Amino acid sequence: MTIRTVLRMGDARLWEVSQPVVKFATPEMAALLQDMRDTMQAMNGAGLAAPQIGVSLRVVIFGVQQNSRYPDADSVPETVLINPVITPVGDETDMAWEGCLSVPGMRGVVERYSQIRYQGFDDQGALIDRTVSGFHARVVQHECDHLDGILYPMHIQDMTQFGFTRELFPDADIQDD
Ligand code: NI
Repeated sequence: MTIRTVLRMGDARLWEVSQPVVKFATPEMAALLQDMRDTMQAMNGAGLAAPQIGVSLRVVIFGVQQNSRYPDADSVPETVLINPVITPVGDETDMAWEGCLSVPGMRGVVERYSQIRYQGFDDQGALIDRTVSGFHARVVQHECDHLDGILYPMHIQDMTQFGFTRELFPDADIQDD
């Protein structure tokens, strides 16, 4: 069990474009995924991208059952997604609050596609192909952005909708630091 340090916004490694994975089902990949799961669980994340722990590979994990960082979120299946490709389904978008383990203690309103198709591979190299909407679609778009060096604050259109969680939601029971 290894909880890795999550890089925080300002670390230049978070701006890099990550490399595709070429070999699946390796011991190195298994170790990376275990570290990512341990780290995401320890920090109560809804998702984590490999670059957030300083590994420049196109690997993300996500999944939500009950999450104290997102108490009202719909559940999302535990997923390992490698070399993902996202295709929007339609033009409809939603605005909603996001947070990020690399931007601790803060939230911002970000526009995302309401529905997407995502394709990629699991840790064994098996194809994943899903069409999803709502919070699931939002989490995937957020995590995959990390693979291209994009953090959610770069999408914020109205900076009054960005701030510290405790100031934004003083009465909400959101555990965010
Ligand atoms: Ni993030």
